Amino acid sequence: MPQSSERRIIIALDGPAGSGKSTTARNIAHTLGYVYIDTGAMYRAITLAALRAGAAIHNDALQAILQSARIELLPSTDGQRTLLNGEDVSAEIRSHEVTEAVSGVSALGVVRSAMVERQRELGSAGGVVMDGRDIGTVVFPQAELKIFLVASLEERARRRLAELGAGASAANITLDEMCAQLGERDRQDSEREISPLTKATDAIEIDTSALSIDQQVAQILAFAHERIQR
Ligand code: DC
Repeated sequence: MPQSSERRIIIALDGPAGSGKSTTARNIAHTLGYVYIDTGAMYRAITLAALRAGAAIHNDALQAILQSARIELLPSTDGQRTLLNGEDVSAEIRSHEVTEAVSGVSALGVVRSAMVERQRELGSAGGVVMDGRDIGTVVFPQAELKIFLVASLEERARRRLAELGAGASAANITLDEMCAQLGERDRQDSEREISPLTKATDAIEIDTSALSIDQQVAQILAFAHERIQR
C-alpha cells in the first residue's frame, strides 16, 4: 500500500482493443491502492442506452440520450461495475451488439465532450489508473505516466476469443473473423476525426504480444514508482 505522504499520480493507459489494458490497469490500481477507471465502459454504457432507445447514431439523438442516461462507475473486486440509471449493466455492455455499435457512438463530438468532462472530474485528484484510447492525448495530457500498449492483431484476437470463451464457440467465431472484427474497430478508432487512437509523443510504448500480464504489470509498476518518487 502507498505511504500516506506519497504523491498520487495519474496513470494513463491507452491502446487498441485486446492489447491487455484493462487487466493490466486493474492490477496496477490494486497494487498502488489507486482507483481504476475503464473509460471504454462509459462509451459502452451510453451505446447501450442509445440501442435500447432505438436512437439513430448522430449528435442530436445522442445529445438527448446523454441528458437522460445516468452512468455510474463503482469500484468492485473484479475491477469496476457499470450502472446505467441505477441498473448494473456490466455484463450487457460487453454484448456483441454493443461492441458493434460502440465505435460509431464514441466517434460523435457530443458523446466525447460529455465523457471527457466526466473522466476529468473522476481523475483530476490523482491516484487513478485510467484506461482508454485518448487518456494520454486528450483527457489528461499532463498525466505523470503515460503507457501505450500494443500487441499484434492475431494475438489480440486470440485473447478476445479466450475472454469470450464458451460464447465464442457457441457463436462459431473463428480466429480470422475475430481478426477482421478487431481490425475494423482499430480502423474506426484510429481514423475518426475527434480524438483518434494515437500514441502521445511522451508515452512509453510496450508491446505485450509476448508478455504475460505479470510481466507487463511489473514493467509499468517500475515506471510508476519512479514517477511517484520524482
Ligand atoms: O476498451 P473498449 O473496447 O471497452 O472500448 C470500447 C470502445 O470505446 C472502443 O471501440 C473505442 C471507444 N473508446 C474511446 O473512444 N475512447 C476511450 N477513452 C475509451 C474507449
